[in-house]
Amino acid sequence: MSTVIDRIGLLVTNDPQIGPGTAELRNAAVLIDKGTIVWIGEADHAPHADERVDARGRCVIPGFVDSHSHLTFAGDRADEFEYRMAGRPYTAGGIRRTVGLTRDASDAELRANAVTLLAEMRRQGSTTVEIKSGYGLTVDDEARALRLASELTSETTYLGAHVVPVEFADDPSGYVDLVTGAMLDAAAPHARWIDVFCETGAFDVDQAKAILLAGKAKGLGARMHAGQLRESGGVQLAVELGAAAVDHCTFLSDADVDALGAGATVATLLPGVEFSTRQPYPDARRLLAAGATVALATDCNPGSSFTSSMAFCIAVAVRDLGMTPAEALWAATAGGAAALRRTDVGTVKVGARADLVLLEAPSYVHLAYRPGVPLVSRVFAS
Ligand code: NIG
Ligand code: FE
Repeated sequence: MSTVIDRIGLLVTNDPQIGPGTAELRNAAVLIDKGTIVWIGEADHAPHADERVDARGRCVIPGFVDSHSHLTFAGDRADEFEYRMAGRPYTAGGIRRTVGLTRDASDAELRANAVTLLAEMRRQGSTTVEIKSGYGLTVDDEARALRLASELTSETTYLGAHVVPVEFADDPSGYVDLVTGAMLDAAAPHARWIDVFCETGAFDVDQAKAILLAGKAKGLGARMHAGQLRESGGVQLAVELGAAAVDHCTFLSDADVDALGAGATVATLLPGVEFSTRQPYPDARRLLAAGATVALATDCNPGSSFTSSMAFCIAVAVRDLGMTPAEALWAATAGGAAALRRTDVGTVKVGARADLVLLEAPSYVHLAYRPGVPLVSRVFAS
């Protein structure tokens, strides 16, 4: 089955062969065959296909690559959000509430919740989604979360080191031993990545290093949560260990920014978190000026950022992080792909997966210009 998307007013390719950044083409067409992009060219020369989609001058972008989400959980924490909006601060401790609810949930409940959220993401244009564990925090519960996540995506991340669970409150180093031992053994067959929340109230830099090195020794790629609540050595550790990405990056020292500018670790910004916790927004301009690769992701989770909408994150990134609409769109597509070390998504080029979004708008600028408006007209997912 082949499909041609014809009369595209504005096509965002992100293809460096075509140009820098969003590498846009006007009056274009794309031919898809068996889930792969096989031809890109001028609308006037569009080849015949089994199905023809008339874009009528509207904009087509690569599907969003959401490189950071926590979809394997039960329950919600709307009450905490209300308290925060009334002035209380966000703390890592709320994670333990979701851990209790998640442990008590059946496989069917956890699966149904993740499927619902993933469908929400898909409808809003996200065609690649990373999913973390991290609300189980026992050997069996972490393995279960990753087993369920791997039914839904190949981008699965073991986050046993999300927070120290209550039963290990007096023995955090015993918990690190479990995370790097039996829990890792049970998680690794279902995970591509290992992540750690390196933050006050969660894990310190030495613990984070031990955890990521243990994961790497098992063949998992490293990623990290750091700089959400304050500066720490986590960001530089992530770069030093060759982590694919370090996520949050809200509080950064000059040395952190220099390290991200010089290294290959992607800085992933999660503006839904600052929105939902009333924290100061990260400074994307500072990272971009240093030459860092910046990605945007939703961080969809019931505590700090319960949004599944990449378009919302783009709108906030443009409004409050100082990104141009083109930089924000690139970060939400090619940037997310870089954060997952993927070359088959995030770019519209021959041979790539046919993950495309037709917008109900003449330009992607409308994603920020018309915040909260459902502008996704059709999603092509491979
Ligand atoms: O990325 N920061 C750590 N983990 C999540 C929050 C999880 C929660 O509050 O439940 C995050 O923001
Ligand atoms: Fe997160």
